[in-house]
Amino acid sequence: MENCKIITVASQKGGTGKTTTACNLGAALANGGYRVLLADFDPQSNLSMSFGIERPDELTMTMHDVLSLIMDGAELPNTSEYIRHGDKLDIIPSNINLSITEINLRNELGGEHTLSELLEPLRADYGYIIIDTNPYLGLLTINALAACDSVIIPASPQLWSATGLTDLLQTILKVKRKINPRIEVEGVLLTMCDERTRLFRDAKALLDGFCEDKLRIFNTRIPSTVKVGEANYSGVSIMDFAAKSKAAIAYNELAREVIGYAGSNKANTTT
Ligand SMILES: Nc1ncnc2c1ncn2[C@@H]1O[C@H](COP(=O)(O)OP(=O)(O)OP(=O)(O)O)[C@@H](O)[C@H]1O
Ligand SMILES: [Mg+2]
Repeated sequence: MENCKIITVASQKGGTGKTTTACNLGAALANGGYRVLLADFDPQSNLSMSFGIERPDELTMTMHDVLSLIMDGAELPNTSEYIRHGDKLDIIPSNINLSITEINLRNELGGEHTLSELLEPLRADYGYIIIDTNPYLGLLTINALAACDSVIIPASPQLWSATGLTDLLQTILKVKRKINPRIEVEGVLLTMCDERTRLFRDAKALLDGFCEDKLRIFNTRIPSTVKVGEANYSGVSIMDFAAKSKAAIAYNELAREVIGYAGSNKANTTT
């Protein structure tokens, strides 16, 4: 049995590269020989589309359906009913119905553990489970934080916001105190970087000042390149779309950093 790590990719801001990171980090880990499951936890279903599912809204068994069964106390069907297998990695897809789940969670006793109930038994089958979230600190994101071992926070220089990061960190701390004591911040990931620009240097300096020695910033930075969007659009990972592109190399490096990170030192949020 593999020692499974569940990672949530989260940021309160929209468009920071969460889905792109979930998709491509997942693919890089799978290329490295790990069994990887992607969990699409955003009603926008961009991760499902990046996986090659063209019309998620036509799916009949999605994250919403399986979580509804859990909330009803019903027995789950065989995993083959709700996990889709790709060439290298698997996914539990989502569609717009996940926004109904969010409403239903409001009235559910202990509802914050619903995703955890789904994923915990799947640890036996995977080396990594990566959860993509929506850009709000609502009940869906709380569920994803409750279900994971660590969090990767993508931040793009164009959208850098200390307030957004502070809000997310406070939520993570609250989740750690009340729901999931094992959660820690894996690191902040700079995405869509154009290192030649003044904007990049200014944003990096602000982020360094914010994180100091309290929060890890990944050494890997994801460069800005149109190839990432083209790969998303084609429903394949950047590794499959353009293996030699800078973004593919960067996501492989990120995977090595994630594998090498043993969960010690500054990245935890106990303080
Ligand atoms: N490294 C990159 N270089 C260029 N474009 C990128 C890069 N990473 C992501 N993008 C593009 O930026 C946009 C936002 O990326 P993505 O969908 O991953 O963000 P997100 O945080 O998941 O957004 P949301 O908050 O809406 O879920 C997409 O159009 C994507 O193709
Ligand atoms: Mg997204």
